[in-house]
Amino acid sequence: MTRRWLVTGCSSGLGRALAAAAAAAGDLVVATARRPATLDELAERHPDRVSAVALDVCDAAQCEAAVAHAVERFGGVDVLVNNAGAGLFGAVEEVSDDELRRQLEVLTVAPWRLTRLVLPLMRRQGFGHVVNVSSIAGRMGLPGLSAYVTGKYALEGMSQALAAEVAPFGIRVHAVEPGGFATHYGTSLAEAAGRIPAYAQVTGDVEAGLRGMAGNPALNRPDVFAHHVLRLVESPTAPLRVPIGADAYDFLQAVESANTTELTAARAFTQHPTEHPDADPAPATPTG
Ligand SMILES: NC(=O)c1ccc[n+]([C@@H]2O[C@H](COP(=O)([O-])OP(=O)(O)OC[C@H]3O[C@@H](n4cnc5c(N)ncnc54)[C@H](OP(=O)(O)O)[C@@H]3O)[C@@H](O)[C@H]2O)c1
Repeated sequence: MTRRWLVTGCSSGLGRALAAAAAAAGDLVVATARRPATLDELAERHPDRVSAVALDVCDAAQCEAAVAHAVERFGGVDVLVNNAGAGLFGAVEEVSDDELRRQLEVLTVAPWRLTRLVLPLMRRQGFGHVVNVSSIAGRMGLPGLSAYVTGKYALEGMSQALAAEVAPFGIRVHAVEPGGFATHYGTSLAEAAGRIPAYAQVTGDVEAGLRGMAGNPALNRPDVFAHHVLRLVESPTAPLRVPIGADAYDFLQAVESANTTELTAARAFTQHPTEHPDADPAPATPTG
């Protein structure tokens, strides 16, 4: 089956690798980027299968135009991949309201909007896939990535609700959770304007690691991500949340075990009779 894809954030990294792999597999791809010139080479390589569109996902009119273009050029959308994203570095105390809103706009509001735009098409045809590119940061809080973590957690929550809402229409939803991939993610990471020196001891190592991602040969390669997303949309049984990369499984295994320990500790804490505000007073000691 030839699938029709709409992929956001194809100028580099995971989105670029996925758009290239889908086109190489014979599918039709609306590849989008804020700077469409970055898509020239891809579109020239696959002139009949790749259509390049300018799209800043935070621009609602451009989102509508991109979906309309997909309908006009290829007749619809079978797979929406909400991939575009960039991080903001800063602890909760360092991130302003406006910075938080901007981070949530790109990580949560824009995927929500694009999903809302393609769902009528998918419901009409009775099938489709929405693939939301989350992160292991969608399941674990990383110090210094407070706003990014918040956006990815929200995307995961939306994906879970959406999956239940659209399953009756034949639409499948996935939140893919890449581990560390050698892309521009670390270099494009913005910094909160109001950094507070005291937080350097808590967040400094995380930031240094992220900044060095692009040149880190130990990280996963974007074509591995593309390979798994192509398999995902072919599989009738793939789970909703799919970590990608061996490191993602190591991190999330540790998270699962910490969650179990926390739940056990919380149950013990709330069941302790002296901690309960309504607990019966201890029986009076007979005084004889
Ligand atoms: N790399 C990792 O280890 C990793 C891990 C977990 C999750 N992720 C997620 O994977 C996705 C792709 O990131 P990447 O690692 O491939 O990094 P990347 O190489 O920096 O690619 C990010 C892409 O998103 C685009 N983008 C950012 N803001 C946008 C906006 N407002 N409108 C449209 N496009 C926008 C960028 O476009 P410009 O070129 O115009 O900036 C670029 O094409 C992101 O959602 C990221 O959170 C990455």
